[in-house]
Amino acid sequence: MKPKVIVYKKVDQEILDYLGEYCQLKTYDSLDTPSYLDFLKELKEAVGILGSGLKVDKELLDQAPLLKVVSNSSVGYDNLDLEVLSARGIMATNTPDVLNDTTADTIFGLLLATARRFPELDHMVKSKQWISKIEKDLFGVDVHHKKLGIIGMGNIGKKIAQRAHLGFDMEILYHNRSPKPAVEKQFKAKYCSLEELLRQSDFVCLMTPLSPETVKLMGEREFKMMKRTAIFVNGSRGATVDEKALIQALQDKTILAAGLDVFEKEPLPLDHPFLTMKNVVTLPHIGSATAETRNKMDRLAAENLVLALEGKRPIAHIN
Ligand code: GLV
Repeated sequence: MKPKVIVYKKVDQEILDYLGEYCQLKTYDSLDTPSYLDFLKELKEAVGILGSGLKVDKELLDQAPLLKVVSNSSVGYDNLDLEVLSARGIMATNTPDVLNDTTADTIFGLLLATARRFPELDHMVKSKQWISKIEKDLFGVDVHHKKLGIIGMGNIGKKIAQRAHLGFDMEILYHNRSPKPAVEKQFKAKYCSLEELLRQSDFVCLMTPLSPETVKLMGEREFKMMKRTAIFVNGSRGATVDEKALIQALQDKTILAAGLDVFEKEPLPLDHPFLTMKNVVTLPHIGSATAETRNKMDRLAAENLVLALEGKRPIAHIN
């Protein structure tokens, strides 16, 4: 009999067909409350699971005695307790690289939309409030020839630097665990301390993975170091920012504006202050959300899973 695998997100049929050649599949479009209970039952017999965002910790793994592989269809894996997974000999995999360009497009687009106030102006036009010439109170700020600070120069950060340097003549500062000589050479990026980056940048783009070291990396102190004219963009995880401190900084005009693709709580609660703040542009965590890229990510997640079940090394093995 084929091994049982649970797919707990919507994926293209061709990916289900591919997985179906190797596994007996149980699929869920998402794990809301009724389907989650059913999922827990199925988990008892599953050797593999594939999806994104599910918290995989000791409590969940106690209900999955046969599990051999957890395949995350995302590059981030802060949802996985790697220590427990490794201690139980369960492989964990992710989907790096195939999403680099798409995510960099999203984050750079968010930066532009925030600087030039696209959502606010779009709303003005569509709500029939465009009744005179646009004057100073609705002007944005330039992006080209400004200074961009990238915190976290991984593969996506590098693609953002590429867009900024080659397309927008921006000067690049970056902060990372270790310097990246290739990025410095290619895009004239300058390595600097977090404080120096915050003090000098016109745009601060946070791209670090979420880890114990990056929780609330940006708080009151850090926002106060930024220029009053600066824009903050978050493309990492919501928990890397102290959201209360960010709200305060935006309300006090400690910084000019923020473009956010990620939040402490997702979906964003319906009474969240960001929903009524004009100097905040929000996106519903869509960094990699194009049809082509999500297909590539799910395909890689499926291949990782099959390789792991065959006892081979997955393409993107984390633990
Ligand atoms: C998206 O946030 C990802 O980690 O792929």
